[in-house]
Amino acid sequence: MTPNNRIVSGMRPTGPLHLGHYFGVLVNWIEFHKTNDCLFFVADWHALTTEYADPRKIKGFVPELVKDWVAAGLDPARCVMFQQSQIKEHAELSLLLSMITPVSWLERNPTYKDMREQLDTAKDLSTFGFLGYPVLMASDILIYNPTFVPVGQDQLPHMELTREIARRANHLWGPIFIEPEAKLTQAPKLPGLDGRKMSKSYGNAISLGEDPDSISKKVTGMVTCTQRVRLKDPGDPDLCNLFPYHELLTPAAEVAEIACDCRAAAIGCGECKKKMLANLLAFLEPMRARRAEFDKKPDLAWDILREGDKKARQEVAKTMALVRERINF
Ligand code: TRP
Repeated sequence: MTPNNRIVSGMRPTGPLHLGHYFGVLVNWIEFHKTNDCLFFVADWHALTTEYADPRKIKGFVPELVKDWVAAGLDPARCVMFQQSQIKEHAELSLLLSMITPVSWLERNPTYKDMREQLDTAKDLSTFGFLGYPVLMASDILIYNPTFVPVGQDQLPHMELTREIARRANHLWGPIFIEPEAKLTQAPKLPGLDGRKMSKSYGNAISLGEDPDSISKKVTGMVTCTQRVRLKDPGDPDLCNLFPYHELLTPAAEVAEIACDCRAAAIGCGECKKKMLANLLAFLEPMRARRAEFDKKPDLAWDILREGDKKARQEVAKTMALVRERINF
């Protein structure tokens, strides 16, 4: 990717970030923000689509998300970090784009169907707001005219809709928006401790700020390769939940050696976990240090967001002036 692209992305403030977020999205944010014009926001309105019954708790997660970002390696001086609900134009554009978005596009969205099925026992997601989730997301993006949007794999259907909505708006109202491209990381999926997708709601996640004792207990209890019952049985790294962690955290030469030893039953799962744990803790250590620094300044996260809001507000003014002109409002 050439430098100086406009890049936009957001995350919902619903809890602490974990390794799945880091390797699935955040590595790209960190890489891209070094040489591009990046805007990252806390999508608190999107959190409301699922947390509407207990809305007051969302606010507490907002500064925590910013802290997670900075601890993970995002430099607030090199990008704009802002809060979605402070930029009212996102809602205005979402209303306008809802006029041209067929309901059938929203109903056939696989992420919408998946989330409804998964969460439906706990929460009623048959709301207008939840159906319109991708329209708000399209507005969050298109209002800044970015070329790239670094997201997790689960967001691809929303990105496709964003492009379709942009195309339709451009067709009906004349050229306004560019069609942005999703950017995935090299390792879009890191399995959770039990082999399913890593997710806070499955209780199989390791969060970025978790204390080493708790991480150590979790790694020790990880499910590895179910075929390998006895130590002398050969293992298969391709079927093992632990191995993807080595691929991300262990130097390549050592990964090859571990794979070889596993297949030859020359290394046990306990020893293999110990190696991974050491690398994982070393990897998280600088994050812990940055988090501790951040914790000394209780207002810092809000200050960063209020600064970012100002810059975001300037950006959206241009797009909205053009949109309003095109529809003669
Ligand atoms: N839907 C995204 C998620 O759950 C969050 C989000 C909201 C977003 N608006 C966005 C991501 C705009 C990228 C661009 O992760």
